Amino acid sequence: MTAYAMTEKVHIKACHLTLAYDDFIVQQDLNFKIMRGDIFIIMGGSGCGKSTLLRHLIGLNHPATGQILFDDIDLCTATPELRNKILFSMGVLFQSGALFSSMTLAENVCLALSASSAVKLTLQEMRELASFKLALVGLKGFEDYYPNEISGGMRKRAGIARAIALDPQILFFDEPSAGLDPISAKLLDDLILELRDNLGTTIVVVTHELASIFAIGNHSIFLDEESKTIIASGNPTDLRNHCDNRKVQRFLTRDLADKKHHGSGTCFDNDLSNS
Ligand SMILES: Nc1ncnc2c1ncn2[C@@H]1O[C@H](COP(=O)(O)OP(=O)(O)OP(=O)(O)O)[C@@H](O)[C@H]1O
Ligand SMILES: [Mg+2]
Repeated sequence: MTAYAMTEKVHIKACHLTLAYDDFIVQQDLNFKIMRGDIFIIMGGSGCGKSTLLRHLIGLNHPATGQILFDDIDLCTATPELRNKILFSMGVLFQSGALFSSMTLAENVCLALSASSAVKLTLQEMRELASFKLALVGLKGFEDYYPNEISGGMRKRAGIARAIALDPQILFFDEPSAGLDPISAKLLDDLILELRDNLGTTIVVVTHELASIFAIGNHSIFLDEESKTIIASGNPTDLRNHCDNRKVQRFLTRDLADKKHHGSGTCFDNDLSNS
């Protein structure tokens, strides 16, 4: 655990949260705390509501009931000024990465800088800041490349450079290593750890990649589709070693089960819809 995680200051708190699309309840009575400097993992089988929870945490969807507090301020009832302040303290990397293909990497990062009315920079200053952010994610010298000229792992890192353009206090990642080879996924995990350790950023990651979950997560929640709520929470390694819940065990030890059945070197079974 790092110095950041040890500060034990609550950054985000969910209280009796119910997530729904009209009459369809996705998750209910969610209660959890995310501490400053946590790398907090949201896990669970396909369709249980991980992305839906993320969309609520970043203010795109409103809870059916319950509250989401950022430093004790309720995102839903905050004044527009406070709400904007909270939203501008966040950076988001969506699953697709979502870079603009007709813009260079530097232009993609500059776009995030120019979107904030709080940041008044000249074009030259924006360009310098974009180069700095790209260098932070290991893309020094790639400012003028277009997204289709670089690898998938580099595109993810460029997406992170854009997400950290405004020095966010919280970063949200939806399946960051999806579609990456194991080496690129490991490099991305290292980058996420560096961001937390060097910048003190609170990081919330939706993922089902076991290697990432154990490498970077210090706290986690497990969402269950059937009971529509959290069925386990805690340090992922502790959950793997001590949690009695059958679904959680099956999810967190499926790599071992695969190796037993197919020998080492077998790919993970990612179909968790029936887990
Ligand atoms: N815009 C929407 N309108 C109605 N239902 C939706 C909407 N988006 C998602 N759902 C439903 O909500 C449930 C949770 O979806 P969500 O995408 O949050 O799951 P997930 O855990 O992120 O799944 P995955 O692991 O496949 O990404 C699913 O039953 C899905 O069909
Ligand atoms: Mg999802």
